[in-house]
Amino acid sequence: MDLFEYQARDLFEKHGVPVLAGAVATTADEAQAAAEKIGGKVVVKAQVKVGGRGKAGGVKLAENSKDAREKADAILGMDIKGHIVKKVMIAQAAPIESEYYLAILLDRSNRTFLVMASVAGGMDIEQVAHETPEKLVKVPVNSNDGLSKSDALKIVNDAKFPADIADQVAETLLLIWKVFTTEDATLVEINPLVKTSDGRIIALDGKVTLDDNASFRHPDHEALIDESAADPLEALAKAKDLNYVKLNGQVGIIGNGAGLVMSTLDVVAYAGEKFGGVKPANFLDIGGGASAQVMADGLSIILGDPDVKSVFVNVFGGITACDAVANGIVQALEMLGSKATKPIVVRLDGNNVLEGRRILNEAKHPLVQQLDTMDGAASRAAELAAK
Ligand SMILES: Nc1ncnc2c1ncn2[C@@H]1O[C@H](COP(=O)(O)OP(=O)(O)O)[C@@H](O)[C@H]1O
Ligand SMILES: [Mg+2]
Repeated sequence: MDLFEYQARDLFEKHGVPVLAGAVATTADEAQAAAEKIGGKVVVKAQVKVGGRGKAGGVKLAENSKDAREKADAILGMDIKGHIVKKVMIAQAAPIESEYYLAILLDRSNRTFLVMASVAGGMDIEQVAHETPEKLVKVPVNSNDGLSKSDALKIVNDAKFPADIADQVAETLLLIWKVFTTEDATLVEINPLVKTSDGRIIALDGKVTLDDNASFRHPDHEALIDESAADPLEALAKAKDLNYVKLNGQVGIIGNGAGLVMSTLDVVAYAGEKFGGVKPANFLDIGGGASAQVMADGLSIILGDPDVKSVFVNVFGGITACDAVANGIVQALEMLGSKATKPIVVRLDGNNVLEGRRILNEAKHPLVQQLDTMDGAASRAAELAAK
């Protein structure tokens, strides 16, 4: 889960990373009140989960609370790279002397953690990494050894931070290492980390990604979820423990096994080209051993998607044999009753396929059609969706 900047700021504060006063606002009124409370010059910052807000006009200096109100009014509702701004953060303005960069991330390809540091931080760090990579120091950190003060100081010195602030920057690096490890993050980035004109080191912008696989260890992380961004069908599927991802097409997909579902998406997209570009409407893996209830839950979510015009159930019987799956489909359709309204193309293969097909044929459900091959079934489902 990616956090908003204001959530990263709060997490930083909790672990002692130096930050400035900041408050989140969803209206111009709230922004003015927050600016009033902070006092003096403030910065109004769009809260969207995408980088480059500064360059897109989503970060604006305000002279006073009335000005903050006007800036917030202009930024709220803005579209930044497809993200609509619903919240702004009002942050105390820092007298910036220099902008630096610090980050810790999970480097999957090298199976390690990686610290990155640069004295050329700020809005052009991507360009720095691309054009003058020598200015971006990268040091792997072994998870067993962790990061010591002397490691941190060496990184800071290698990155050529000025000697008078090296110690403070190294301390900040150790603090974000603490954030990274104790919060189970896969990314903690500060850009910019600034030196102020009075010599302080402060994190002005934070980006944090938390590892969802570790969420069971962090009940407090649930409060960080952005409910407003969740797709309602995905939220429903999650509540029912289904592996569902909403896509933008018209053919609802149910399969068992992530690999089979992935290839089903490909086959449907390919077949759909013949029918005016029909595409898969979702990913849904009901897994091995799916009960009638799981099939019913999956079908009801897919049928609840107004974009869906047909459904393709693609099952390869393994440990759960095709007859069990066929019975599951029949019972699921009984459970759904009049809520099942769209044609359903079923392709069964694998363990006990003949019995599975017989059960479906005998049930004679008016919405169900069977095809023997995956390509044939994908083509029929696409054709039905195009009608
Ligand atoms: N609190 C602040 N005080 C002064 N300047 C700021 C403050 N926050 C951000 N800035 C300036 O705005 C720039 C962009 O802001 P930042 O938060 O890094 O957004 P983004 O990375 O999305 O562009 C920073 O590089 C910094 O120069
Ligand atoms: Mg930034």
